[in-house]
Amino acid sequence: MEIILAKSAGFCFGVKRAVNMAYRAAENSEHICSLGPLIHSPQLVQRLEGKGIRVQNSVEQIVDETVIIRSHGITRNEEQALERKGLPVVDATCPFVKKAQQYAALLGKEGYSVVIVGEQEHPEVQGIISYVAGSETSVVANPEEARTVTPHKKLGLVAQTTQSFDNFSEIVQELLENSKELRIFNTICDATAVRQEEARQIAGRVALMVVIGGHNSANTTRLARICSEIQPRTHHIETADEICADWLDGVEAVGVTAGASTPEWIIRDVVDRLTAVAK
Ligand code: F3S
Repeated sequence: MEIILAKSAGFCFGVKRAVNMAYRAAENSEHICSLGPLIHSPQLVQRLEGKGIRVQNSVEQIVDETVIIRSHGITRNEEQALERKGLPVVDATCPFVKKAQQYAALLGKEGYSVVIVGEQEHPEVQGIISYVAGSETSVVANPEEARTVTPHKKLGLVAQTTQSFDNFSEIVQELLENSKELRIFNTICDATAVRQEEARQIAGRVALMVVIGGHNSANTTRLARICSEIQPRTHHIETADEICADWLDGVEAVGVTAGASTPEWIIRDVVDRLTAVAK
């Protein structure tokens, strides 16, 4: 049986950077926490706990600890609260997310009404909004919602980094009708699109697709959905223990990919288990 492992499977640049920063910080500090789970992988969060990195869910709970900021960033309020408490901070915000925050801040400063393309409740979007001072903001998830944006002389647009380019450009089309001036910063990071495209291609060539990642990880769930539209025999698993031998009956080629928050050792375990079961 052939196993086709996606080259883009696993940590993206920003997550890899955040995890490395967390491990390094744990070597230099005994009292250390992350503000929210560092990534959507319960197995990695557990390993980090083993290194002494606790998860704290709000700034109020933190006393006298070094604080690691996750790759999708925090809000300006949280940043200020950390400053007021004088806590040491390891800022692992992905540089691409930082750019989106900075562009949103710039648009607000220059009097644009700021539109963020993304999911309203996502912490990254909440973070981006919080950096806009003194201007209106709205979050739109799709072209239908873009139609409801209040017309404004100057509209400024940024995107949650994981948005799809097609959705972003359809929203641009809608907003063109709502404004005399539309200033666009394309803040989409292509790591997600590259991973999704590779998954599509592999799913089209195999009889079984395995997508690895936290059941609570939105990007892994989306990846599994994309694969199952092409190959209905797609399984979203978190660890190798979930693999059933029956899945491989009559299968000559199996595709494997993983979400951006899936550690390499979990991917390796899955590939090893598939190889063992196929024998
Ligand atoms: Fe950064 Fe892109 Fe990953 S924004 S956190 S590299 S998906």
